Formats: sequence, C-alpha cells, structure tokens
Amino acid sequence: PTSTIPIQLKVNGQQHRFEIQPFVTLLDLLRNHMQLDGTKKGCDHGQCGACTVLINGVRINSCLKLAVSVQNSEITTIEGLGSPENLHPMQKAFVEHDAYQCGYCTPGQICSAVGMISEGHAHDREDIRELMSGNLCRCGAYTNIADAIEDAMGATASSCK
Ligand code: FES
Ligand code: FES
Repeated sequence: PTSTIPIQLKVNGQQHRFEIQPFVTLLDLLRNHMQLDGTKKGCDHGQCGACTVLINGVRINSCLKLAVSVQNSEITTIEGLGSPENLHPMQKAFVEHDAYQCGYCTPGQICSAVGMISEGHAHDREDIRELMSGNLCRCGAYTNIADAIEDAMGATASSCK
C-alpha cells in the first residue's frame, strides 16, 4: 500500500488535518474525505470547470490539483461561499436569473465567477463570456449565466467604488 502524507488545510474557514495518499486530488479530498459534494466531478481532466473552487481566493480546477500541493492553503467551496439563509451575492444572482437547469455545473460556475471578478479583468459581457469559457454547461444555460454574473458584477462594482 502507498504510504500517506500528513496535510493541513483550511476549508470554508475551518482548519483540517488529513493523512492522505499522495495521488489524491483536491476534488476527491473534498468530496470523499469531507463530504463536501457541492463541488462536482465532470470530466476529471481540467476540461469542464465543474470542480472549480477558490484557493486563497483564486479559482482553480480542483481535479487538477493534488491535495498535497495545496498544503496550508485556504480553500473555499460552494458550501463556504454562502448558506441557504445567507446566500452570497453571486448565488443570489444565479437564483434570480434562473441561471441553471440540471444544476450540475452551477457550483463551479459560481465559484469561477467569484474568482473572475476578483481577478479584475472582466468589464463587460464579452469579457464575461471569454473569461468564463472554462466552465461548460451541458444544458446550455449560458445566456442566463452571463446575465447573473453581469448583474452580480454590477452590484460588486458599485459597492466597491
Ligand atoms: Fe475538473 Fe472537469 S472535473 S475540470
Ligand atoms: Fe446543467 Fe449547466 S445547468 S450543466
């Protein structure tokens, strides 16, 4: 059997320690070891964005990250962004704009959109479409997704200026 490695991470504001095998991805750590299954596994190869989470505020595909490589980082998943009683503004915008159908891509879309806004390169709808192109939606809800992000982005911009 492969030996395990101790790691320490902060996930959604709480410190955790694990003993894991070196090949375990961050996605599998979240889903299988922490039961945080809001983060979805679509392709498991970096091509769909369903597994997007924030590491120290930066969006990444968690299927491409080995958990051992994010030692001591701060991870935020969809569960940590907001709660049903207290939605994050991006979650609220997705609800208001009906920006999902089956919902499988939605947690990744929302985490990615939050990361995209903090990168600061999205200024209009075209930018949103381009910078969100790593997040696929098999249901084709792209128009409503862009509407939701544009709306949330406007709200964030006006509250920051
Ligand atoms: Fe990670 Fe598709 S599951 S990009
Ligand atoms: Fe179904 Fe996007 S809502 S994949």
